[in-house]
Amino acid sequence: MPAKTPVRTIVAPSLLSADFARLKEEVTAIEQASADWLHLDVMDGHFVPNISFGPLVLRALRAHCGLPFDVHLMIAPADPYLAAFAEAGADHISVHAEAGSHLHRSLQAIRALGRKAGVAINPATPALAVAPVLDLVDIVLVMTVNPGFGGQTFLLSQLAKIAALRAMIQETGRPIALVADGGITPAVAGALRAAGTDVLVAGTAVFGTADYAGAIAALREQSPEGTA
Ligand code: DX5
Ligand code: ZN
Repeated sequence: MPAKTPVRTIVAPSLLSADFARLKEEVTAIEQASADWLHLDVMDGHFVPNISFGPLVLRALRAHCGLPFDVHLMIAPADPYLAAFAEAGADHISVHAEAGSHLHRSLQAIRALGRKAGVAINPATPALAVAPVLDLVDIVLVMTVNPGFGGQTFLLSQLAKIAALRAMIQETGRPIALVADGGITPAVAGALRAAGTDVLVAGTAVFGTADYAGAIAALREQSPEGTA
């Protein structure tokens, strides 16, 4: 039996758009605002043209937040740091297909650490790039902007890729979460859900507002199923 798309939209606010001077308060507030996952963007200034934070920040926040830590590694190489992120409190670890020559090995390593394994792809990378590793992943993350910065404009061209990935995931019969990340607002949430997206990552659209709960609800309400 093919896996069904979960009815409820999973919303994963991205910490990148939070107030870095008040991270403890920010993660507490986002949990109270009924976020589903906390998305953590790790950038190395090499794979992407920006630097964010590493495992020490995860470890510091872990005690203050009960949400699953959804770690998006935009670093190359990733393998030398996987254990550090797992030990610091990552529940999910996604690595980019473009970040190295041994994606399969990286995913095996994440699973061996007992964490959910994800593969992320950039806008110019085709859906088929993940086909050979679908048996190893719990998460497929589609970048809907070029990675590196929050606050960019959503790339409509990625919707067709998301629909293709949804079909590929259905064929596996495995419960793989399909994640979209970048430029997501309530205006595009409905189209993303209709294309088969399970998880909406949103930085600016949540942390850039004064009402986190309202912003999360607005993203969920745009799904074809509403808030059910
Ligand atoms: C971009 C990151 C995204 C980003 C999303 O490289 O992977 O998670 O923080 O931020 P917004 O929602 O502002 O595009
Ligand atoms: Zn991200």
